[in-house]
Amino acid sequence: MIVYGGDWNPEQWPEEVWAEDVALMREAGVNRVSVGIFSWSRLEPVEGVFEFGWLDRCLDLLAAGGVQACLATPTAAPPPWFGHTYPEALPVDADGRTLHHGSRQAFCPSSPIYREKALRVAEQVARRYAGHPALAIWHVHNEYGCHNARCYCDTSAAAFRAWLRERYGTLEALNDAWGTDFWSQRYGDWEQILPPRATPTFVNPGQQLDFRRFSSDALLDLYRAERDLLAEITPDVPATTNLMAGMHWDMDYFSFGPELDVIASDHYLIGDDPHVHLAFSADLARSLGGGRPWVLMEHSTSAVNWQGHNRAKRPGEMRRNSIQHLARGADAIMFFQWRASRAGAEKWHSGMVPHAGKDTKIWREVVELGALLKGLAEVAGSTVAAEAAVLLDYASIWAQDHPAQPTSNLRPLEVVTEWYGKLWELGVTCDVVHPESDLSGYRLVVVPSLYLVSDAGAANLERFTAAGGVALVGPYSGIVDEHDRVRLGGYPGAWRDLLGVTVEEFFPLAAGERVELSGGGAGTVWSEVAHATTAKVLDTYLTGEPAWTRNTWGEGAAHYLTTLLHGDDLRRVVAEVCAEAGVGTSATPGLEVVRRAHPDGRRYLFAINHTGAEATVAATGVALPDGTPVEGRLTVPAGAVAIVRETAP
Ligand code: GAL
Repeated sequence: MIVYGGDWNPEQWPEEVWAEDVALMREAGVNRVSVGIFSWSRLEPVEGVFEFGWLDRCLDLLAAGGVQACLATPTAAPPPWFGHTYPEALPVDADGRTLHHGSRQAFCPSSPIYREKALRVAEQVARRYAGHPALAIWHVHNEYGCHNARCYCDTSAAAFRAWLRERYGTLEALNDAWGTDFWSQRYGDWEQILPPRATPTFVNPGQQLDFRRFSSDALLDLYRAERDLLAEITPDVPATTNLMAGMHWDMDYFSFGPELDVIASDHYLIGDDPHVHLAFSADLARSLGGGRPWVLMEHSTSAVNWQGHNRAKRPGEMRRNSIQHLARGADAIMFFQWRASRAGAEKWHSGMVPHAGKDTKIWREVVELGALLKGLAEVAGSTVAAEAAVLLDYASIWAQDHPAQPTSNLRPLEVVTEWYGKLWELGVTCDVVHPESDLSGYRLVVVPSLYLVSDAGAANLERFTAAGGVALVGPYSGIVDEHDRVRLGGYPGAWRDLLGVTVEEFFPLAAGERVELSGGGAGTVWSEVAHATTAKVLDTYLTGEPAWTRNTWGEGAAHYLTTLLHGDDLRRVVAEVCAEAGVGTSATPGLEVVRRAHPDGRRYLFAINHTGAEATVAATGVALPDGTPVEGRLTVPAGAVAIVRETAP
């Protein structure tokens, strides 16, 4: 079964609506809803007083209607009494401002009081509904750290110090890692260490980086605490929490991934090429679970309400979005939210049941999508095999986020998504993985922008290349160690040998400035004076310095770019490197083609046509869900999707 549904928030509606909701869910083919996510103030209206009657009735209705519950612990939104009774548990920002209730996630992640109250309500929910026929999976919290990723209060400061003691053991080691002899920051006592609160000027980069690591760990620790509690009470019910893969960068999702029974992630359309960003997010979500099928816990049927201009989806767009996620390994397609709210901060966010009711594009498309997913049940459990990987590390992004860098215009996430976009255009399905993960299954590894890399990560790429892989490394990668200390002796210190290049100085370009290349292209944002040691130079600046190099390394080769390329210039390099690695297909522009397969060999081709014209792709098998034979060529109408169970060649 492909799971289909969304967040159901019955507490926002009079009880008469609930039965109608479940009837509509059946009509739409909805088989699972997330419920109770923001219900803490209903479940525990007064501290210590629990009221479950209403949720009992909701879950009973779901069970009777054959709809599963992805039942939430309501801990993402503490009720007003919480902040009033325990003001010391409210989050505090870097400027010392306390953030109050009135929205959601108003708690300090390191607060023992918050943890105690959250675990208490989670335990009540778990004991109440353990064994309930609707209960299928736990939805722990909601989007950890979406609004309170870092807290700078005194409680957090003490927890940060404890985390640092654990990490470094001695103050000497910490002083060394952070380079505290710079600007007289040497610590003589653990108690002197603070979170990176507002300072007169640039804060210590090591301190900032470790605080981000600590903050991510604090949230992960909260997840673990709830998950462990739930596992004690309902050992057979899996648990997850909805990540925001590719959308949110404050938590190290590579550390969350292994802790979730199934990866769940949320995605909303953003940027100029929203479907490319969607693919990136889906590939990252899949990679966080080591390739296992994952849950798309939220996306939108149409407009969201939190962008400056909230674009409504055109007819057919929601279906393309959903099938893109499915193609990239999701076994569940869910939305925020079931019924569009009448009141509250998200009343202008689309839902599966819009304000205007059933006679609408949205409702018709919701029903059609439900029918389509029902017809694709056999796809569930199949997986995506990627030949290429993009390396990404949250710590590197955090380190580069320090304001004192050679340029603030070299933005790693922009580079990563731009490079990913070229691979997408070339039809290369990629995993998005941590630099220290097993790379042996890939033929191509691209490293668009990885300022920080550990020794282990650096050696990993060398090993991959030596074993016959092809690597493509972007500028300002491999520059610092895991403490954000420069790797000396010529940049990029981590990969000087692998790339056969040594860089003596960076020359960041001004806004709008370009550096022409002898091959006809041009770079922006960044340039550097590099010398090829063992590498062959494939393209140069007009001054003769290397712009693109290739170095043989063991059985493989490592390419390096010393400037940022875009458009066709970047495409040419990526295409050449793909050809050398033997990955990619002859992609039709705008026709996204991805495959999933079962271990028994059943294989599915997904084709999503993002263009306004009919497109074709080679395929043989039967079209799903209707079983029409496909002989040699599949035609996908403009804006449509097609799925084929391929006949083994
Ligand atoms: C998510 C969140 C939902 C809702 C949605 C709106 O971040 O989990 O509760 O706020 O965004 O797009």
